[in-house]
Amino acid sequence: MVGYAFMGAAHSQAWRTVNRVYDLPARVRMAAICGRDPEKVADAADRLGWESHTTDWRELIARDDIDIVDVCTPGDSHAEITLAALAAGKHVLCEKPLANTVAEAREMTAAAATAQAAGIRSMCGFNYRRVPAVTMMQQLIAAGRLGKIRHVRAVYLQDWIVDPQFPLVWRLQKDKAGSGALGDIGAHIIDLTQFVTGQRIAGVSALTETFVKQRPLPGGSSGLAATGPADGATAATGEVTVDDAAVFVARLDGGALATYEASRFATGRKNGLRVEVNGSLGTVVFDLERLNELEFYDATLPAAEQGFTRILVTEGDHPYMSAWWPPGHIIGYEHSFTHQMRDLVEAVATGVDPAPSFADALQVQLVLDAVTRSAELGSSWTEVEPSLAAVAG
Ligand SMILES: NC(=O)c1ccc[n+]([C@@H]2O[C@H](COP(=O)([O-])OP(=O)(O)OC[C@H]3O[C@@H](n4cnc5c(N)ncnc54)[C@H](O)[C@@H]3O)[C@@H](O)[C@H]2O)c1
Repeated sequence: MVGYAFMGAAHSQAWRTVNRVYDLPARVRMAAICGRDPEKVADAADRLGWESHTTDWRELIARDDIDIVDVCTPGDSHAEITLAALAAGKHVLCEKPLANTVAEAREMTAAAATAQAAGIRSMCGFNYRRVPAVTMMQQLIAAGRLGKIRHVRAVYLQDWIVDPQFPLVWRLQKDKAGSGALGDIGAHIIDLTQFVTGQRIAGVSALTETFVKQRPLPGGSSGLAATGPADGATAATGEVTVDDAAVFVARLDGGALATYEASRFATGRKNGLRVEVNGSLGTVVFDLERLNELEFYDATLPAAEQGFTRILVTEGDHPYMSAWWPPGHIIGYEHSFTHQMRDLVEAVATGVDPAPSFADALQVQLVLDAVTRSAELGSSWTEVEPSLAAVAG
């Protein structure tokens, strides 16, 4: 694994847990973790359960006893680490968004296709696909229970930079993060909605905004705080070079109309991801703050019986749930990462390609790029070029 902070911790927890919960054809050994600070990475290895540590990710790639490289760094190093790992014959799990630019994402997708021919697998970390209620949403839609999909309504709302004194951390710098709320949280709802509907975003009209344009420079050494105030901001300020919020309307290639909103300025909303899909035969609603539940409206029932049903997605025959606790014993955010590792280990061990593929993630990157270009051109309608492969098979 490369990177030991927010996603490093979330992924480590999943790697530690996956073999205890699921019966898999291979056992995971947490061989080595990499970070740039020698003391902090040593501490992280100890705390998170890794056998060894290094400050140079190239050492991981050179080792014969490492099969999978898990990339948990900011977007500016995804391409370099991933390309080197694939070239060295390592399977790769890369965090989202796949890259900072379409050009990098294309190069990574091409490298993944070459590696695939040699049995090397790659996957992008859109973990929300693996919340059981979201997987169930996809299954209901694929089974035709919603009929023809007419509307998709998706929001991902946070508020961690409402304070103009919040410092200029890496997520607010385009050269490190690629974009702001758009690529960080907008990318999740783009992938999630394309996954559940099986439809691709074909065109967009967008608005983006940077509400606070100058922020204090971070104190301390890294300025890589995930959320919440970073260590002591200094008096000097720097320019925010990414969007604080992005909103866009879209057409899906199956005919649905969609709206998307991604913001870090939605005061009071901490991590509010909500998706609603309306079809000719019904509606499904997912809300991350109630992630064990799925709301389903079945319009094929007699009119007198119609209404939103709250399904508690904790039964043994719900996706991923058979290995967890008895029905009604709920799960949380971190379980989506365990499910991600389960699917990756199973795919690697049995020689199949996991999803979402790099081609799926390139499709998301093409949408991010179209949103940015549309906003720069006064919200003009902007077509999204299809990726190499269809989304979600
Ligand atoms: N799937 C999700 O829900 C989710 C949530 C948050 C972040 N992410 C993604 O995960 C990635 C990391 O985000 P984060 O929140 O964990 O960031 P973070 O700032 O918490 O951690 C980044 C880590 O990368 C390390 N790092 C940076 N450059 C490095 C390099 N060249 N070599 C070795 N280590 C390096 C840092 O030291 C730090 O340990 C980003 O791509 C982000 O978009 C995904």
